[in-house]
Amino acid sequence: MTAINQNYLELQGSYLFSEIAKRRTKFIQENPNAEIISLGIGDVTRGLPQSVLKAMHSAVDELAEPGTFRGYGPEQGYDFLIKAIIENDYKSRGVDIAVNEVFVSDGSKCDVGNIQEIFSTDSIIAVQDPVYPVYVDTNVMAGRSGKYNQDTKRYENIVYLECTAENNFKPSLPDRKVDLIYLCYPNNPTGMTLTKDELKVWVDYARENNCLILFDSAYEAFIQEDDVPHSIYEIEGAREVAIEFRSFSKTAGFTGIRCAYTVVPRDLKGFDVEGNAVIINDLWNRRHTTKFNGVSYVTQRGAEAIYSEEGKQEIASLVEYYMTNAAIIRDGLASIGLEVFGGVNAPYIWLKTPKGMDSWSFFDKLLNEANIVGTPGVGFGQSGQGYFRLTAFGSRENTEKAVDRIRKLSL
Ligand code: MLT
Repeated sequence: MTAINQNYLELQGSYLFSEIAKRRTKFIQENPNAEIISLGIGDVTRGLPQSVLKAMHSAVDELAEPGTFRGYGPEQGYDFLIKAIIENDYKSRGVDIAVNEVFVSDGSKCDVGNIQEIFSTDSIIAVQDPVYPVYVDTNVMAGRSGKYNQDTKRYENIVYLECTAENNFKPSLPDRKVDLIYLCYPNNPTGMTLTKDELKVWVDYARENNCLILFDSAYEAFIQEDDVPHSIYEIEGAREVAIEFRSFSKTAGFTGIRCAYTVVPRDLKGFDVEGNAVIINDLWNRRHTTKFNGVSYVTQRGAEAIYSEEGKQEIASLVEYYMTNAAIIRDGLASIGLEVFGGVNAPYIWLKTPKGMDSWSFFDKLLNEANIVGTPGVGFGQSGQGYFRLTAFGSRENTEKAVDRIRKLSL
């Protein structure tokens, strides 16, 4: 008999987006003629930028020749991509990041899920509620969550930072000692942001209270307003307390290609059981080189291309396309009296379900009566109950059609 990791039995239900896909498939089987519009999982629909395609094609050709063939690359990523990241995503904003502080990977989901592994299983984690479920579930798997309380529908050892309309979706600082704080901005799922001053409060808190911020910035490219920080390192002192996660998935259509990166500053220190300081970057490097063999050369050449002049223009127009969809959804739903949030600096629209309907009932109503798949807010946590998320990543035609169908519902 092989004993299993008992922590897995504390996981609740199935992974949110698998559950939604299951319900969608069942509906299609029962209603084969329904024309479904999917605005659930945040998956992009536009093609890859031409600059990316060109770079990937030529990288494939290089691989055909013994002289330019590449086998295993550096696990942390090729220098050409890391340098392009540093130059364009950080230096241009006055932030200094060194080459050995960037780790290229196959996705932010994996990185935000794996990062917890280098911290003590005794660490107390704080998450925003609602929250991207990966942060919680990976800590449950690691045994940090404690038991799930069926009444509160929360884990006993996790600190939940509530984000609702009442606090304009801006969480208060934790009311007890925590070690790791997951922050996601622009936020998934609410689509809301913090200003520089608001984010500074968190950085200062982490410095004063010896905690570490895991800053998920996968939606940074969608920021439109000036006072919204693109990187946590724009805030003074953040290098000592924050790890940042970035992704090419939504920005450049890489959800299927897979490429992202994580920044772990060398200034960041944790402590061993004897209280000696340990450089966290070394631990992540050790983990990454042991468990990961690097992103393919072809993919990294594709990612590099988004920083070319042509690539930047293409990314800008992709972002504009999706943010126009966001405005169509926001304005369309607001025009029928729904309360909508987000969608200004993020490709997600978070809405209050009408007439106090619970999130899954609204999901069923949209699916059955309008053939639209969205994401129930409660799937992101208890504070998401009574809310619903729509993505702006659909095609223009489907986005307009979806808004039209919702307008016609009796809500
Ligand atoms: C989402 O819909 O929240 C995201 O697409 C999920 C992900 O990026 O893994």
